[in-house]
Amino acid sequence: MTNIGLIGAGMIANIHAETAKRIGTTVAAVHDPRNEKAESFGSLHGCDVCDSVELLLERDDIDGVVIAVPNDLHAEIAIAALNAGKHVLLEKPMAMSIAQCDAILEARNSSGKVLQMGFVCRYSPAALKAKQIIERGEIGDVLHVQATLLRQRGIPGLGGWFTTKSRSGGGCLIDIGVHLIDLGMHITSKKSPARVHGKCLQAFTAETYSYEEMWSTPVEGGTFDVEDRVRSLVTDTSGTTFQLEVSWATHLPENSMNDGLLIEGTKGSLVVDLWSDKLQKGFADNGVPKTETVQIAVRDAWEDAFDGEHQAFADAIASGELVDGAGTGEDGRLVQTVIEAIYASDKQQVEITLQ
Ligand SMILES: NC(=O)c1ccc[n+]([C@@H]2O[C@H](COP(=O)([O-])OP(=O)(O)OC[C@H]3O[C@@H](n4cnc5c(N)ncnc54)[C@H](O)[C@@H]3O)[C@@H](O)[C@H]2O)c1
Repeated sequence: MTNIGLIGAGMIANIHAETAKRIGTTVAAVHDPRNEKAESFGSLHGCDVCDSVELLLERDDIDGVVIAVPNDLHAEIAIAALNAGKHVLLEKPMAMSIAQCDAILEARNSSGKVLQMGFVCRYSPAALKAKQIIERGEIGDVLHVQATLLRQRGIPGLGGWFTTKSRSGGGCLIDIGVHLIDLGMHITSKKSPARVHGKCLQAFTAETYSYEEMWSTPVEGGTFDVEDRVRSLVTDTSGTTFQLEVSWATHLPENSMNDGLLIEGTKGSLVVDLWSDKLQKGFADNGVPKTETVQIAVRDAWEDAFDGEHQAFADAIASGELVDGAGTGEDGRLVQTVIEAIYASDKQQVEITLQ
């Protein structure tokens, strides 16, 4: 039986707790400095409430922790958890800077514990199937990846920590772009970004951001000093290009593009809608272009993805080894490198060379 603790009792921590229960992992305890939130989380998920991170990390019955706190606390808490001998599932982004990523990696290395990055999109059923197809060589060498995640109205808690650069590190790029940057490199096994071009902008203000329905309530009078729209082109050392289109808010028609990847190879292509139960595959039959629909076994793609992430973490806790395909700390650092290069390219209005 795997026992975990949750650090943070916010939006995503609730999803982690539900997922843990679904796959048979026990959530033993939670900590959140907002007492009321921690208490209601404790009663909802049937776990103890600890008054501090330290008290949670001292517990012998906890094998691993999920860290689901604002981005500026990732490094400090991940390092404390690893030093306390706990395996760690760390929400994305890994940290606020490369230096913080390196400090986390050092703590992982000296503790000998598992550090798994919360790159949950890797476990979307469509992403898993696409990776298999690419690894079987069915679309040949990958030439280009177009990665898209465009929300019409989806700024998380405008005015709160997500939209405050000093707490989040950035806007939609560091919030949702991270998933696509990781996924593109993971699915294609191309992890050598060489040149990075980026364009970031804030298209909305607290005054122009209106909506009929939203899943996250703005914080009255808060800070909004981060981007809500990003475009980027990354070229890797093999010449493969990765195009990124991400938004928290746009005037595009609703659902005009599905979340996912369009992958073009020398022999074929894949359209990967992350939350679908099918993939579209393009290929040539004696030179004649064909389209095939590949059906995938899906229960609920979103829940399946979280189940996959948590099963990998439970298996890692049981074996003491990170499971193949799970996000490593090095993957988290690599994504941070690309993110920093995109921000630098935007600021300096030049292409950034990484290698
Ligand atoms: N994998 C995903 O798809 C996904 C989705 C959403 C958020 N996230 C990531 O998860 C993290 C949390 O996001 P969220 O949406 O749940 O935010 P949230 O604001 O809903 O929750 C964060 C919680 O952390 C608590 N907190 C603050 N300081 C703390 C501390 N020292 N110890 C313990 N708890 C503390 C806050 O009180 C709050 O309840 C972020 O890093 C975010 O990027 C990942």
